[in-house]
Amino acid sequence: MPSAISKVEIGPAGARYYDLFLNMLSLGSYPHFIKGVVDKMGINPGQSIIDLGSGTGKNDCFMVEKVDSQGRIVGLDISNDMLVQAWKHCRGYLNTVFKK
Ligand SMILES: C[S@@+](CC[C@H](N)C(=O)[O-])C[C@H]1O[C@@H](n2cnc3c(N)ncnc32)[C@H](O)[C@@H]1O
Repeated sequence: MPSAISKVEIGPAGARYYDLFLNMLSLGSYPHFIKGVVDKMGINPGQSIIDLGSGTGKNDCFMVEKVDSQGRIVGLDISNDMLVQAWKHCRGYLNTVFKK
């Protein structure tokens, strides 16, 4: 159920299938597109990044590779269901956290 401050809050099914849906819609090109964008962002080791509306965390998984173990990623999202997905996707990275 969307909260009063957001009309785009995503629920359990939307969060679970969000990446799959985008992959299908883009005929599998979406992850490559995102990775290409992150490659061009000029992210350096040691930097800290706040990702507002971090969704399923897939972008953060790419960005954390760039900031390396000295950097940090903080993903913020209004949707608990998206946060659950993000924690799952990035569970291998100790320097990545997701918060509401
Ligand atoms: C279109 S999705 C994009 C997710 C991700 N950045 C991506 O590129 O795949 C937008 C995200 O913003 C979150 N969002 C919407 N309104 C928000 C708010 N007011 N504060 C925090 N997150 C919000 C939604 O829950 C959703 O996960």
